[in-house]
Amino acid sequence: MANFAAAIGDLRDTGFGGDKPRVAIILGSGWGAIEREVHDPLTVRYEDIPGFPAPAGTAGHECRLSEGSLWGVPALVFRGRYHAYEDRDPRDLAIPVQVAHALGVETLVLTNAAGGIREDLEPGDLMAVSDHLNLMGINPLVGFERLPQAKPFPAMGAAYDPELLEKLINAGELASQTVKSGVYAGVLGPSFETKAEVEMLRRMGADAVGMSTVPEAIVARALGLKVCGLSLITNRAGGADDSHEGTLKAGSDNAPRFAAVLKALITGL
Ligand code: HPA
Repeated sequence: MANFAAAIGDLRDTGFGGDKPRVAIILGSGWGAIEREVHDPLTVRYEDIPGFPAPAGTAGHECRLSEGSLWGVPALVFRGRYHAYEDRDPRDLAIPVQVAHALGVETLVLTNAAGGIREDLEPGDLMAVSDHLNLMGINPLVGFERLPQAKPFPAMGAAYDPELLEKLINAGELASQTVKSGVYAGVLGPSFETKAEVEMLRRMGADAVGMSTVPEAIVARALGLKVCGLSLITNRAGGADDSHEGTLKAGSDNAPRFAAVLKALITGL
């Protein structure tokens, strides 16, 4: 059973928080290579943190938390995340964000893989998340009585910090990469979308679709963290060949490009 108090107690006992991390990054599917950029890290596997939710063991989702200097900035890097489609309590999705907040982080960078819906969003493109649609059918703040540090009714009108959004676009320019922006639709998964669902999402205002990020952004806003999101478009949504393996491959193929953008963002924070 996940237990935030146990997890944060253990992490503090093992030295986490000692570097006063300013920023936390949650690495989505295919984004794991960023973990190697943490200099001289203190690292623990999720399954070795008492009270931390058990990872689901999805291929390509090796789960480790590292603290150290990320391009000169004290940072926490969560490699691997919890998904609402796993067999777990939605409140588990809050725990990494609660940990980041409790260790002093002020800025949360959410990365993910997403399927492109808007015509110009092609595999390999980077998209800064300007806003989201929560179509997951869950909200990690349900039962907020158990999240005493969180605002139960957070405003979501500027969920993705406008200044950070601008910094992300500028980071793309600095790294000679185009960073587009758009609305991310969070769906439950784990099946990919039908063509009819993609058309529905497009009419609802979605530019890209994925199975993560939204719950973490909600918790972050409830805890007063600044949030930004960066999607790697791995496929055109609704394709007949959509696959988890394809998502991971698009991630490894594009790792140097998104690392360059994140570096420009983080060093400019
Ligand atoms: N749909 C949902 N999630 C995804 C997709 C997609 O097409 N691509 C990567 N994650």
